[in-house]
Amino acid sequence: MHGRLAASTTMKINPTLLTLMLGLLCQSAIGDSADSEFLLNSEQREPSVENILTWDAVAKAHNAKPSEQDIGFEFRFHNKTGGEVQIKRADSSCGCTVARLPKLPWTIMPGQKGSIPVTMDIRGKTGVITKTVVIATDKGLIPLKARVAIGAASKPLKKRSKEERAANLRAAAQNRQAVFAGKCVECHVIPTIGKRGKQLYSTACGICHESKNRAPFVTDLRPLAKGKDSQYWQQWIAESKPNTLMPAFAKKHGGPLDDNQIRTLVAYLTRIFPRELKTRRAATLKNKPALK
Ligand code: HEC
Ligand code: HEC
Repeated sequence: MHGRLAASTTMKINPTLLTLMLGLLCQSAIGDSADSEFLLNSEQREPSVENILTWDAVAKAHNAKPSEQDIGFEFRFHNKTGGEVQIKRADSSCGCTVARLPKLPWTIMPGQKGSIPVTMDIRGKTGVITKTVVIATDKGLIPLKARVAIGAASKPLKKRSKEERAANLRAAAQNRQAVFAGKCVECHVIPTIGKRGKQLYSTACGICHESKNRAPFVTDLRPLAKGKDSQYWQQWIAESKPNTLMPAFAKKHGGPLDDNQIRTLVAYLTRIFPRELKTRRAATLKNKPALK
């Protein structure tokens, strides 16, 4: 399979593709750097214009329950090139992931819409699995990525060793966006996929800010939340501040959150979060034995 792919790269060589090909060589590409591009299957996004066909998304994700066996993805396209595009074949990074194509070559007429169903067999697998199907066309290659997080939504985060945590801190000190790439995604990105509002806060922010175990330089947000406006939250979430360990979550900085998710987070943080503090305090006071 590798040989065949290598032969077809003459059509179009770019760094993304090279990364992709390297990715194909290792069977379970858990850590790739482009994690923010993953879209949960149920989500909608403005069509993205690729150079060959226009796709609803070229990377899709699904949170699977441990009981699920086959995960289906559908990659929708629209031919806006003004010419015919011929799909010649689909190569995938493992036998467990298959794209179903009609009789080949498949000619997509100008203006034609269609879709490519991709199925991933996850039996016996755990964790996060990313597979790529490369669609070979007469105009070049189109990599489609499918990611499945198995049982990740409810699974507690695995414990980290001291060394691992120190290494993570070093990585973050070099690049505050490091949390959104490589093996960090397992804890810092995957649990946030498809979440909004309060749930998004606890998965994306709470992991650092609400941890009992957090480093001293990680701010306690509860006491400072009162009276902070949406611009304050928007700024910190989307842009953050360079030279700190607080990452920038906006997609334009390589973060995992789209504008809509950030909106739901800001709404939660301005309207509900400060009130939760009061309720919490009241609850703690109530539980304390009365002072004499
Ligand atoms: C296994 C889950 C897990 C992985 C993987 C992980 N983190 Fe974290 N991270 C946490 C948790 C949990 C905390 C909150 C502190 C705690 O409870 O240990 C945290 C906190 C942090 C903090 C805040 C400082 C601190 O230590 O309290 C930074 C910065 C950070 N992680 C960066 C990274 C980077 C960079 C990577 C990848 C190189 C990474 N993390 C991978 C779970 C993880
Ligand atoms: C990887 C750990 C990490 C994650 C995840 C994280 N933060 Fe932070 N955050 C920090 C650190 C560290 C600081 C302290 C920055 C500094 O040095 O000033 C910080 C600072 C902040 C501040 C500034 C507080 C002040 O001093 O005024 C806000 C607001 C904030 N974070 C909100 C959020 C929100 C909202 C999210 C979720 C979208 C989030 N953070 C996710 C680590 C994190």
